[in-house]
Parts: sequence; C-alpha cells; structure tokens
Amino acid sequence: MSYRIAILASGSGSNAENIIKYFSHSEQLFFPLIISNKPEAFVHKRAENLKIPSVTFSREDFSKGTKVIELLNENNIDCIVLAGFLLKIPENIIQSFPDRIINIHPALLPKYGGKGMYGDKVHQAVVAAHETESGISIHYVNEKYDEGNIIFQAKCPLTREDTAETVAQKVHALEYEHYPKVIDMIWGKRV
Ligand code: GRF
Repeated sequence: MSYRIAILASGSGSNAENIIKYFSHSEQLFFPLIISNKPEAFVHKRAENLKIPSVTFSREDFSKGTKVIELLNENNIDCIVLAGFLLKIPENIIQSFPDRIINIHPALLPKYGGKGMYGDKVHQAVVAAHETESGISIHYVNEKYDEGNIIFQAKCPLTREDTAETVAQKVHALEYEHYPKVIDMIWGKRV
C-alpha cells in the first residue's frame, strides 16, 4: 500500500523538511506537495531546495476549502500532515479525508491546546505555569482545534532555568525524532 501525503505548513517548515528527508527513499510514503497559507513562509524556500512544489492559498480559500480539495485531488493526495499549520481545517476538507489528517502540537494535550495556543505562546504559557515537563502530541484532526484522538505523546523534563526558547528547542528535538516515525507507524510499513 502506498500513500501520497501533502504537508501543510505556515512557517519555517523545519518539520516538513525533516519528514520529507526521512522518507526520501521510501517506496510507500510519498510527499509530493506542500501547501501553505503564507506566501512569505520559509517553508517555500525549503520546498524549492527539496524540489517539491509548494502552493499558497489565502485564508479565505482555506476556510472555503473547495480550491484546496481540488488541488489535493488533482495531486491524488491520500493523507494530510499538518506541520506548524496555523489555520483551522474546514469541515469539507476533514470530511474528504476521514482519519487521514494528523497534526503535531508542541505540548502535552489536553493542556495548552485550543484556539490561540500555537508556537511560542504555548511555550510561554508552559514556562509561566512552572511546568516540570512539556512535550509533543500527535493527533488526528477533527472539527475542533487540538481535540482529535491522540495517537502519540512524548515528554521532556523542564527545569526552573528553562525559557520559552529552550522549551521550544527541547520540543523541536522531540518533533524531529518522533513525527516521521509516527507517520510511518500510521500509514507506512503495511503490505
Ligand atoms: C512546531 O513546534 C509545531 O509543533 C508547531 O509549530 C512549530 C512549527 O515549526 N505547531 P516548523 O515550522 O516545523 O519549524
């Protein structure tokens, strides 16, 4: 069984690059398309270097979903991986890809999730609450922000010296290590 997977990213795209490189010799999982909502996002530069087409849709087009679904279908996309994608996924996209969309959240859900909890805001909140650990949550995407079934979590210990920046570094390290493996666990390695 092989799957064609689109990556959606709004920012730097370091997870997108890490995933694409991890699967560059895979004969099962292919990553032929990156979609963003920001034309200036660094993920486009990474896509260019990786020789993978990247497309931008406006916030409005994303919320309607139709054009995005059209592009996904034209590219025979089976699954979607969100990697630092900040917009809500509309219902019609979710219904077109049932149980085929996953997201990574940079904290231990259900804590520090929901609308407005993204990027550094998550890490700042974790530090402000003097948490002794943080981590990552990989979950299916449903109609509510960060509330789909959790597939995998990994933790990292925090110290009193940690800042939002050092927490982000620890969390990124976990993301790089685990996100590709979890994608492989869900959609790869099947005959
Ligand atoms: C990651 O920490 C991801 O969990 C969060 O946004 C960050 C994106 O980083 N949702 P990058 O764009 O992959 O470098």
